[in-house]
Amino acid sequence: MKLTVQKTANPKVKPAGVPKFGTVFTDHMFVMEYGGGEWKNARIQPYAPFTLDPSTSVFHYGQAVFEGAKAFKNKNGEIRIFRIEQNFARMNESCARVCIPAFDPSFVESALKELVLLDGDWIPTDEGTALYIRPAVVASDAALGVHTARNYIFFIILSPVGAYYENGLAPVKLYVETEYVRASRGGTGHHKVAGNYAASLKSGERAARCGCDQVMWLDAREHKYVEEVGSMNIFFRVGDRVITPELGGSILPGITRKSVIELLKSRGIRVDERPVAVDEVVAAIGDGSLTEIFGTGTAAVISPVGAIMLNGRELTVNGGEFGELSASVFDELTGIQTGRLPDRFGWVKRWR
Ligand code: COI
Repeated sequence: MKLTVQKTANPKVKPAGVPKFGTVFTDHMFVMEYGGGEWKNARIQPYAPFTLDPSTSVFHYGQAVFEGAKAFKNKNGEIRIFRIEQNFARMNESCARVCIPAFDPSFVESALKELVLLDGDWIPTDEGTALYIRPAVVASDAALGVHTARNYIFFIILSPVGAYYENGLAPVKLYVETEYVRASRGGTGHHKVAGNYAASLKSGERAARCGCDQVMWLDAREHKYVEEVGSMNIFFRVGDRVITPELGGSILPGITRKSVIELLKSRGIRVDERPVAVDEVVAAIGDGSLTEIFGTGTAAVISPVGAIMLNGRELTVNGGEFGELSASVFDELTGIQTGRLPDRFGWVKRWR
């Protein structure tokens, strides 16, 4: 497929400093459409709103998937992209789950490269910053029948970002949700389907009312096992090992999760992927064997957890401080991403 490029005649004024996560977008976007049984009209164009009919299927039935990835620019001017092929592979799996036609990942990756290089001046270089990449596909049939759409829009937008949480790397407090669930096995929870996030909002509001930053989700069947946290996967350091919930069909297979597991194992640290009961977590905090909890995600990177709140009871973790292991994983991961440390796993492609 041919990619056309139309550059903007009116570049935006770039913000001074790093804006709040996901609120400012670069000058250009990638768009392609699906119709008549093929992806077509691939283009880089000036960033602009879509005009869609009110009957457009995504508004009503939520046939939509997305991804989150990051590119980095260091002080040497290198532009570095982290494990992007994993994002596009996962995105095609998400598409398959909600009957969206597959796309060619290598074509989309090369279009993204062109887009990122075109908007390269937007990539922040300060420590802790990146260019957040948001690919998405939405169903665009203008009709109200509930069926697989025949038309789709695929787009990628770019946003210069700093820390995902407003308090930066300050440890977060988690609200353990014992009533609502995010996802169940056989549902869409292990794919990046837009509706998963709609299902999480109510609990997010409950968490905020209790002074918590994020929700810790439990399994849908027994409300007993920890699944994930807000927009992150979750890890527990207990004794000499690290434990994380296994991917059982309702947990997002995070690319940062996978990277952290590989990184820890390469240091000789044992990582157990298995069911983790919330009662086990509470007991291990109580007897002092649990010394750290941290979340992982593209947007959040590594987020230390300072406390969890279960049924109104608050349990402090590691004195509410950023743990030693979490901090060193954060340091190595961000070091690899930005080029400060050697890329000993081959995770990064240099685009410039
Ligand atoms: C990411 O970490 O990139 C995500 O997609 C989570 C989010 C919804 C901000």
